[in-house]
Amino acid sequence: MSNIPKHIAIIMDGNGRWAKKRGWPRVKGHERGAEVVRDITTFCANHNEIKVLTLYAFSTENWKRPKSEVNFLMRLLDRYLKNELKTYQKEEVRFETIGDLSPFSDALKKRIDLVKEETKDNKKLTQVLALNYGGRDEIVRAANRACKEGIKVTQDNFDNFLDSSNLGDVDILIRTGGEKRLSNFLLWRAAYAELFFTNTMWPDFTTKELESIIKEFKLRERRFGGI
Ligand code: FPP
Repeated sequence: MSNIPKHIAIIMDGNGRWAKKRGWPRVKGHERGAEVVRDITTFCANHNEIKVLTLYAFSTENWKRPKSEVNFLMRLLDRYLKNELKTYQKEEVRFETIGDLSPFSDALKKRIDLVKEETKDNKKLTQVLALNYGGRDEIVRAANRACKEGIKVTQDNFDNFLDSSNLGDVDILIRTGGEKRLSNFLLWRAAYAELFFTNTMWPDFTTKELESIIKEFKLRERRFGGI
């Protein structure tokens, strides 16, 4: 039986370089990147094997960028959630987040909660945006939650304490933009993920390329440590 791509996770890299190459400000790349997020999400919602799509939208390290770019990304996210609520409903996509939302503005947190609430019964796909997310941060916060409840963690019960609890392990992890690193993404969840690195910059990433990655994934042999 071939592999089933239930959970796809993507490091959406290359927005800045895509824009620079065209002589445009970096933020133009993020703007185009948000449109690609919509296309890929719609594709995944209509693919009957994909149940979860996790996208690295803002890392714990991204605060180091110039304030103007950080502000732009926050506004873009707010606008995206506001405009795309209709897409979430039309395509039956449930919206979720992982990461520590506490540093975000009250207005953005409110928007995030609203879209989560409005889409909570949608069943075709769960789109998870990783926001102020870091894999180590997720693990440390999970360990602290368990500690607070006085629970000794095991590999089985640790799942319950993660932000990504119930999302299931990642099957396919894609990084666009040519770098070959995990950059602190989904360290626990991606333990057995099949990795795909592409030179395509995120604003140029297409459903066609995703289809060919899924095709290759299905041909890969996954042994999960067995023989
Ligand atoms: C990496 O490109 C991308 C980000 C840090 C942000 C990802 C954001 C988006 C795809 C758009 C917004 C998303 C939503 C859901 C509204 P980079 O800036 O590091 O590119 P570079 O490596 O070429 O500099």
